[in-house]
Amino acid sequence: MPSLRILGTGHAVPDRVVTNDDLAAMMDTSDEWITQRTGIKQRHWVTEGETGIDLASAAVTRAFEMTGLGPTDIDAIIYATSTSDHFAPGNGILLQDAMGFDAIPAFDLRAQCSGFVYSLSMADAFIVAGMFRTILIVGQEIQSTSLDTTTEGRDSAVIFADGAGAVIVQAHDEPSGSAILATDLHGDGQHARELWVDAPGAIYHPRMRADHIGARSFLQMNGREVFRHATTRMPESVEAALAKAGIAAGDLKLLIPHQANLRISELVQRRLGLRDDQVYNNIERFGNTTAATIPIALDECLRTKRLARGDLVAFTAFGAGFLWGSVVLRW
Ligand code: COA
Repeated sequence: MPSLRILGTGHAVPDRVVTNDDLAAMMDTSDEWITQRTGIKQRHWVTEGETGIDLASAAVTRAFEMTGLGPTDIDAIIYATSTSDHFAPGNGILLQDAMGFDAIPAFDLRAQCSGFVYSLSMADAFIVAGMFRTILIVGQEIQSTSLDTTTEGRDSAVIFADGAGAVIVQAHDEPSGSAILATDLHGDGQHARELWVDAPGAIYHPRMRADHIGARSFLQMNGREVFRHATTRMPESVEAALAKAGIAAGDLKLLIPHQANLRISELVQRRLGLRDDQVYNNIERFGNTTAATIPIALDECLRTKRLARGDLVAFTAFGAGFLWGSVVLRW
């Protein structure tokens, strides 16, 4: 039975840097509040005309440079995003065209902040089933265009940001080599409206109306509920995946949690009893880029040589839906 190996990664963010002081000039907030409550110091937001496909293409180009592969080596694209450039079709197929891939399957996976963990689990299922050998996974979001940058929207405007990460995975047949050891995926749709964007939507006639502009087209979040569930579900899910894999938390070389909020990551770390060197955080520089946070962080870890073949690694995420999950793998 083939196993999945991560061959290489890349990431890209918009050039425009938005600091906490920049936000304080737009709304009633402060660098001190944002730093204390979220750990974020700056994030990247697109400028008008910059697309999700631009960000994804730059991230994928870097992943190709790292792996020595190119578009003709890829058998399928799984594109995790909740903010595709257009209502339809999705960004996966737009990327296929933009980068000159063959006529391979390319589709969007919409699992918000859990998009990368879901995509990696799906790639593993494709590889283990023998359906595809080399898969490109992209996590990419443009959240800044759905943020209310007045004081009214300050709870989410200070958190969310834009970016893209790309990960190339490939099948191999070496026993005891790299492999996904366990996955643990969940969802609970009764909380869908705790973190959501109401409009535009296909239920409305027409889909986009003047009264949608404003609150209903902005990302709405019940921060306290999200915080409460995230800090329970993420450790629970990592523990379930570790138990399936037969590994103790202490044996992990690295946990890369979804970068929702530094306080959430710190609580997850504490609940799992992990040391500081076992958990990677970069939210301070990027904010919360939804499906892109884990692949961006993974790319930084690879480029700074934090991982070696054989290391045990876990990813965990929680977000809108609510959807959450974890993956444990041997690097
Ligand atoms: N700047 C200054 N004050 C702010 C603010 C901001 N950006 N955002 C909210 N506040 C205010 C609130 O209005 C509230 O004021 P009040 O007490 O006068 O009503 C006060 O700060 C405390 O708000 P509260 O919601 O209790 O703060 P909090 O400590 O829970 O922090 C979040 C708010 C959003 C940072 C926090 O709930 C959180 O991180 N939630 C999870 C968010 C997340 O990770 N989302 C993505 C999931 S994938």
